[in-house]
Amino acid sequence: MDQINLTPTLLPVVWLVFFTLFFQARKVLAVDVNFTICSVPRYCGGLWIKFPFFIRELDEPRCGFPRFNVSCRNNSTPVLSLPDGDYIINDIFYQNQYFLVSRADRHAVCGHSIQNISLPEDRFYLPKSQREMVLLFDCNLTTRGMEEFSQDMVDCGSGNESHTTLALWNGDKELGFVSGNCTKSVLAPVAFTDGMENVEDVVNRGFVLNWIASDCSVCEGTGGKCGFDYTSYHFNCFCPDRPHSARCRPGMSFSLSCSCMV
Ligand SMILES: *[C@@H]1O[C@H](CO)[C@@H](O)[C@H](O)[C@H]1NC(C)=O
Ligand SMILES: *[C@@H]1O[C@H](CO)[C@@H](O)[C@H](O)[C@H]1NC(C)=O
Ligand SMILES: *[C@@H]1O[C@H](CO)[C@@H](O)[C@H](O)[C@H]1NC(C)=O
Ligand SMILES: *[C@@H]1O[C@H](CO)[C@@H](O)[C@H](O)[C@H]1NC(C)=O
Ligand SMILES: *[C@@H]1O[C@H](CO)[C@@H](O)[C@H](O)[C@H]1NC(C)=O
Ligand SMILES: *[C@@H]1O[C@H](CO)[C@@H](O)[C@H](O)[C@H]1NC(C)=O
Ligand SMILES: *[C@@H]1O[C@H](CO)[C@@H](O)[C@H](O)[C@H]1NC(C)=O
Repeated sequence: MDQINLTPTLLPVVWLVFFTLFFQARKVLAVDVNFTICSVPRYCGGLWIKFPFFIRELDEPRCGFPRFNVSCRNNSTPVLSLPDGDYIINDIFYQNQYFLVSRADRHAVCGHSIQNISLPEDRFYLPKSQREMVLLFDCNLTTRGMEEFSQDMVDCGSGNESHTTLALWNGDKELGFVSGNCTKSVLAPVAFTDGMENVEDVVNRGFVLNWIASDCSVCEGTGGKCGFDYTSYHFNCFCPDRPHSARCRPGMSFSLSCSCMV
């Protein structure tokens, strides 16, 4: 009899307690959407693509840094587009903030389409120590004679003497004479200088680019995912609870990854 009498009066209270707990729990357990979105690992061509890079077709720009969008061409080749052309990303060294690139156009030297690399200076720069090759096109070497420069000639298999292409290291003392007698010169950074038999191959093997972006290690080290807020135009550390400016606060975070710190 007691039960029958109590239930109608207690029921609303029980429900209230239940709902309160349920919604409290939901609030606590709800993982921030930005954290979730930027937690999806991305791969392209066997490379792990993460902050500051993001894949244009797959990722939210907020998971990367402005200008670090890469295209995963054919689902297999990460490509960075620069004003002078497309570059294939061959490797990324996140710890040291540099990556290896090579021109997507493999015939840029012999096809004469090669241009000076044009870098957004606030994002990418060439390491000072990296060697550069000077490529000179349409050289008229009649006065000094071709033989003198035979070592420097780029063999593109055309044999057209009025289209002579030369390759010299930047700093070569002959550059002064030569460049005045060629119509176009281009600086090509090269990282791998061994096996100099074919200039186009050496140029195609690529070079190192350093990058400038917010350091991700502190955020990542506290269990966050690095990202960017395009509204405030600032770096964000997306944490399970909410976006933070630099790092996740271990005390605020209930996530499983932080339970070890309790
Ligand atoms: C991408 O795939 C298309 C069609 O399969 C092919 O024609 C093209 O050469 C490929 N591009 C690259 C860069 O592999
Ligand atoms: C991605 O890069 C291209 C070429 O550099 C640029 O035009 C485009 O605006 C970029 N998109 C985003 C979302 O950053
Ligand atoms: C190359 O230079 C020489 C000497 O300046 C000139 O006589 C000749 O016409 C030039 N040849 C070409 C193809 O421009
Ligand atoms: C070399 O190139 C010039 C200019 O394009 C052309 O007029 C000439 O016929 C070419 N010579 C050979 C041997 O291909
Ligand atoms: C270019 O060639 C001419 C002769 O054709 C030579 O006198 C000159 O020193 C060369 N170099 C420059 C920089 O003009
Ligand atoms: C490439 O850069 C070098 C050095 O700044 C310059 O001398 C050369 O004219 C440039 N070439 C082109 C095609 O803009
Ligand atoms: C996700 O991040 C963006 C940019 O920082 C912010 O505008 C938005 O409010 C965030 N969303 C949530 C659910 O925190």
